[in-house]
Amino acid sequence: MSNTAQQDAAVADKAILANSAYADGRHLAARQSIYRWQQPQYDLPGIVVEELADTSGTVLDVGCGNGKFVSRLRKDRPDLQVVGMDLSAGILADIEKPVLVADAQALPFADNSVDAVLALHMLYHVGDIAATIKELARILRPGGVLIASTNSDTDKQELDQLWARAAGDVLGIPEGPARVSLSSRFSLEKAPGYLATAFKDIRIRKLPGTIELTDPAPIVAHLASYEAWADQCGVPFHDTVSRAAEFAAATIAIEGSFKITCLGGFLACRV
Ligand SMILES: C[S@@+](CC[C@H](N)C(=O)[O-])C[C@H]1O[C@@H](n2cnc3c(N)ncnc32)[C@H](O)[C@@H]1O
Repeated sequence: MSNTAQQDAAVADKAILANSAYADGRHLAARQSIYRWQQPQYDLPGIVVEELADTSGTVLDVGCGNGKFVSRLRKDRPDLQVVGMDLSAGILADIEKPVLVADAQALPFADNSVDAVLALHMLYHVGDIAATIKELARILRPGGVLIASTNSDTDKQELDQLWARAAGDVLGIPEGPARVSLSSRFSLEKAPGYLATAFKDIRIRKLPGTIELTDPAPIVAHLASYEAWADQCGVPFHDTVSRAAEFAAATIAIEGSFKITCLGGFLACRV
């Protein structure tokens, strides 16, 4: 198996996901924390609230993680029945009920039983992406909406370059193996093709931004949040994170800041 294929398999490995990467909310929170320094700032839960303005009834947040979207929806839309669902029991521990542990690939819901489904930054983790999208469409009532989100293939490429340089330095070669990419299996570029197999009307909302840092700590927190996939990196993980921090600090000393370009997006899909 190629290094990329091994990394892709590990990104969708249910044991790694439930018992390590998302055993609790720590790694997810560390990875998300870098967005505090992004301009413009986007209120992501607010965007979902906006997208669900015409929805009534039941909303299922598939792969809800630490419940950021579930809690905001319950606060802003108390009229909705919002259910959180995740593969990991641990990450659901602090979210108010109703929540359930289940696999997005086999949803414990009847056909046409849910008014809206959220699949936010999670479809790149499922083994069979196409089958899961059919499964999401199956449980949606006619007229229901799926809101998916992911990142572009170009998202945070400065961190990819930083990692490859640091990994190369650790290994004593010009450029080391690529950083594990989570979103590439279902990137913003690939998502419409997958979604079009089950949905007709697909609207994309792109969210470009720039993160500008004058301290390498948020980069360290972000890179270190991939620890669950350390065995797939092909380079000693912690040494590479430390070397990346040194290179980022050097860039900040010379240029005044370390800039990272971001591109994420939402896809609102109807059958
Ligand atoms: C990157 S986090 C996103 C969390 C949240 N949706 C958000 O956007 O903040 C991915 C989440 O999907 C969950 N997940 C991964 N594969 C899953 C599957 N097959 N079924 C249900 N949840 C899954 C993980 O446990 C994790 O909590």
